[in-house]
Amino acid sequence: MIDRATAERIKDTADIVEVVSDYVHLTRRGSNYMGLCPFHNERTPSFSVNRRRNFCYCFSCHKGGSPVNFIMEKEGISYHDALLHLAKKYGIPVEERTLTDEERQLQSLRESMLVANEWAMNKMHADLTSTDEGRDVGMAYFHQRGLTQEAITAFHLGYALDRPTALADAARSAGYDIETLKAVGLVGVSQHGSLYDRFRGRVIFPIFNTSGKTVAFGGRDLKGGPAKYVNSPESEIYKKNRELYGIYQAKNEIVRQDKCFLVEGYMDVIGMWQAGMKNVVASSGTALTDGQIALIHRFTENITLLYDGDNAGIKASLRGIDMLLSHKMKVKVLLLPDGHDPDSFARDHTPEEFRKYVEEHETDIIRFKIQVMLTDAGSDPLRRSEAIRSVVRSLACVPDPITANVYIQECSKLMDVDEKIISRETRRIRSEMLEKIRLEKRFEAERQRLDNDPSSDHPLSSPNLEDKSINQDCATTVSNTQPMAVSSPLLPLEKQVARYCARYGVMDFCEGLDAEGKPYWLNVAEYIQAEMEADKMEFTNPGFTRLLQAVTDLRDRYLDDLGHIREELESEKQKKREEGIASIAAKELDISSIEREEEALDKRLEEEAMEEERLYAASYTGRILASAEDDFVRRFACECLADIKPLSRRFDRMGSNLPEHERLIDLVPRAINEWKQGNLHLSISRLTQKIANAETNGDHEAMMKIMEEISRLQRIQKEAAKAIGDRVISPRSKF
Ligand code: GTP
Ligand code: MN
Repeated sequence: MIDRATAERIKDTADIVEVVSDYVHLTRRGSNYMGLCPFHNERTPSFSVNRRRNFCYCFSCHKGGSPVNFIMEKEGISYHDALLHLAKKYGIPVEERTLTDEERQLQSLRESMLVANEWAMNKMHADLTSTDEGRDVGMAYFHQRGLTQEAITAFHLGYALDRPTALADAARSAGYDIETLKAVGLVGVSQHGSLYDRFRGRVIFPIFNTSGKTVAFGGRDLKGGPAKYVNSPESEIYKKNRELYGIYQAKNEIVRQDKCFLVEGYMDVIGMWQAGMKNVVASSGTALTDGQIALIHRFTENITLLYDGDNAGIKASLRGIDMLLSHKMKVKVLLLPDGHDPDSFARDHTPEEFRKYVEEHETDIIRFKIQVMLTDAGSDPLRRSEAIRSVVRSLACVPDPITANVYIQECSKLMDVDEKIISRETRRIRSEMLEKIRLEKRFEAERQRLDNDPSSDHPLSSPNLEDKSINQDCATTVSNTQPMAVSSPLLPLEKQVARYCARYGVMDFCEGLDAEGKPYWLNVAEYIQAEMEADKMEFTNPGFTRLLQAVTDLRDRYLDDLGHIREELESEKQKKREEGIASIAAKELDISSIEREEEALDKRLEEEAMEEERLYAASYTGRILASAEDDFVRRFACECLADIKPLSRRFDRMGSNLPEHERLIDLVPRAINEWKQGNLHLSISRLTQKIANAETNGDHEAMMKIMEEISRLQRIQKEAAKAIGDRVISPRSKF
């Protein structure tokens, strides 16, 4: 753990121009720097770096962000590691927060486990290449499977000698603690208490994590025994649903090609790697997990699943699709000719042929699913409708409404079902899914509350929600990572409000009254918060709530920083003033001209300083949030900083050409008001629906009540339309 102050210091020190310059040749263009984008191949520079905003952005592939983001993306490392990387670059000493005894023990256990694995990996690689048994058995097998020396080296393949305790003995004499070898699962204990090597007489595939640490091994049987593969057990350093075989060797190529192939087995990864398709990883026989998708997503959005074209392969390819879609992945499927896996296909074809086959046979996953399901259903109407329902469920997992729409249109054509019906069903299922997530979360919160309350013993069982996996997938997607995952009609409206908060949240906004009726300045975020409280409005996206909190928390730090900037600006102003006065004096004017010129000078300098301060204030919030630790907040802030759309027409009509941050006093209340109107509108239409129901049931009392409620809301609606948010404020703009 890096302590907070150090983390802030690193983020403050990291200069985007310097950081990017380590990777990209930049040339100055006006107030920006431009260069060739490091995230995609291009000939003309579209990568822009802005020092004031401490932000970079590619106009072509839309990647970019703060220095921390840039490093995370470029190096494919975590937030924490990106901070360490920057600290190293700037020579900032990082005292990782002192660990508790328990943490320290765990830490050193982890380290010694990694060290032991590394040693074993090297030992088994050496046994493969330089013992007779290794060469005759292991190496012979690899050669027979067509592996090149290059691949054997790149994947650090090995061989485990076929003796009960060869590795355990060697470890002991090399000074390794047997307990550690047990912890990583290299050594096991039999029923009679004797030690034995887990991997014996097997060829070994070390499993690396993204940073190249050996976290586990897979061992393939060579003698036709019952278990074709034996793997390391889960341990403190190996959580199998968070690792992918081959990711370390593939990550650079995945970024470069902006695409990842996913295959089933160890041999498939190596086979494709040898055929020149190095952007390939394997889920190692298990169903793809959330954590594995997130891992791939760090490097690319585009994933192609490769399967054997037999029935089992087709089934397998359809299994993970809802999860992939809800992670906002662009998914394709490629079926190999029946009986082929990627490894055998690579061996039977030249790399050229393989590449061509991929290009010609990759199919978009949803299209693929429709084809498979419809063919499968034939003309049986019941199975046909089941197929449609299953496709719609997949559609409901697509977070981006625009993408979803494209799919809906296509589905309607392919399945010959009215587009409106598909669209309505998709929306219905999606909102059901989101509702389930909400329930699940509430339940989780409740359980935690009870967990923390020792006085209650609570036999709370999990709520009976079928298809829990989808819930969880969407839950992570909606709340943590993807800014715009839910397609509620209110989302664009609340997003706009959140956007002002993310960009300008700490700027002084207007005067408000505190509890004792004394006036004080509200900043943009506080104003938004006050308005929301007054109308009991809440963001539907919990990420926005965290964002608002993050900005309100920023207030004191901002005021501090602003103070420093003012001092700097003041001393700069004094310096310029002296220079100006000297040059006026040099002109040998009469006294009154001198006075006039000096006055003009002061005025100009004052304006310049004010302008600088305003720009500082206007870029502050976004700049800080773009390095926030919270994934959602950081991504959303980056998204907001990157959106450089031209002024919308509505504001052109007002004849204003001022930059956005000078018009907040109009824009922010308007955005809140539109959101509020949207809220009211939604509530009213829900109530109208209820009235209809009550009418069918002949429940007149209920009808009256609902009608009253509706007219109350309509009154508010009218008021809100008249007065744009002047309740907590007397809108006197400062800026
Ligand atoms: P080859 O048969 O040598 O071509 O290996 P492969 O990697 O192609 O294996 P296969 O396609 O049969 O299985 C795909 C993946 O599933 C393997 O790479 C393993 O990760 C996993 N797997 C297969 N069989 C077993 C097994 O018996 N035990 C375990 N734990 N995993 C297995
Ligand atoms: Mn195989």
